[in-house]
Amino acid sequence: MKNNKIPTGFSRLDKDQKIDLVSSHTTDPALFSNTLHASWHRDPLAQKLYDEFSENTLGNYFFPYGVAPNFMINGRMYMLPMVIEESSVVAAASGAAKFWAARGGFHSEVIGIEKIGQVHFTWNGGFELLNRLFSELRLLMLANTERVTANMMKRGGGILNIELVDMTEKIPEYYQIKATFDTRDSMGANFINSCLEEFADTLRDFVSANKDLSAFDLHIIMSILSNYTPNCLVRTWVEGEIKDGAHHYDDLYTDREFVTRFETGVRIAQVDRYRATTHNKGIYNGIDAVVLATGNDFRAVEACGHAYASRDGQYRSLSHVEISDSTFRFILEVPMALGTVGGLTHLHPLAKLSLQLLGDPDAAQLMTFASAAGLANNYSAVKSLVTKGIQKGHMKMHLLNILNVYQATDEEKVHAVEFFKHEKVSYSAVDDFLKSIRG
Ligand code: MEV
Repeated sequence: MKNNKIPTGFSRLDKDQKIDLVSSHTTDPALFSNTLHASWHRDPLAQKLYDEFSENTLGNYFFPYGVAPNFMINGRMYMLPMVIEESSVVAAASGAAKFWAARGGFHSEVIGIEKIGQVHFTWNGGFELLNRLFSELRLLMLANTERVTANMMKRGGGILNIELVDMTEKIPEYYQIKATFDTRDSMGANFINSCLEEFADTLRDFVSANKDLSAFDLHIIMSILSNYTPNCLVRTWVEGEIKDGAHHYDDLYTDREFVTRFETGVRIAQVDRYRATTHNKGIYNGIDAVVLATGNDFRAVEACGHAYASRDGQYRSLSHVEISDSTFRFILEVPMALGTVGGLTHLHPLAKLSLQLLGDPDAAQLMTFASAAGLANNYSAVKSLVTKGIQKGHMKMHLLNILNVYQATDEEKVHAVEFFKHEKVSYSAVDDFLKSIRG
């Protein structure tokens, strides 16, 4: 930034004016402006669609769109679409998927699809008074939301429950109306928030129309869905035989040694929050990539998962291992609120095609796909960590990025990839190699 003046009227400028203004704040305005223009879709209508997903849009920021083939999930093969910028995530997911496809694949069951929303309010008339009238109030809330819920109810969803929660132990005079919802195949944010605002209006009107209640003060503080949906939950697992003396899982370690090391690796993530955070990040490498590719909200999915990971007061691994005499089972239990209708799912051209590639799943099926990607990435990461270490594979996958930093030509890249098959990859090693072949 060249100066600290607060820009005014920026949003009223047209797109070219915005680009000129923003570019003028950079060290190379022509480069900035040309790069943004070059990022525009060649079809102006498509570009308009992308522009309108957000505000003050100047261009498009590209992320790779890839697929991880070989995912067998509940007995059927899928190619999972993945949007991710980190090298090795798609390769790791694909590698694990191929390995497990030969061993029965991923098993997955959706445990629940319940969503949650809250009206937060303060009230100085006490819990008892309000609670006595709450069944009447609940009926009014249901009646007043009929216009909003009619379509959802036709699809088999709607409001599941509405309760009054006393929160005065935490904050004096603080209460909640806590409601649960079934939003079928939509993520349901707009539906839930509309219902909640209607509940809040109903509560306000109810209190002011009742002479016992209206003597007290009611303040609606806010009405909003909760992204913490512990009962919108999927459980996904892989399982394989442990054969003593055999090397099914790894060359370095026998099956028994491998599963023991693997289990210890996962247990560490259950007791140590530093390791747990990295472990779960590896899970979200896979989950987020599928969530993004299908036009879903990865921030909501992550926030929910991390809250769930700390549900007993300590942040822990979302996955765990069960070992019996002859079986190794690796299980991921993770909540996520996804949609296959509404939002960007059918507006974003690639999100729509991703869903087509997946056979137009319902939201519950999509939960099984995203969690399978998460478990696959988690398996690959922990396997590498407890065997040969992560850096060897990681840096090999990162090699092309490093070569691009040094502006290697296609020919140089071919030589480098061959050379680094047997050498350790690092920035300085790549620099030295390029210097040596450039003479
Ligand atoms: C890197 O993106 C993810 C890992 O750090 C995950 C893990 O350590 O389990 C490899």
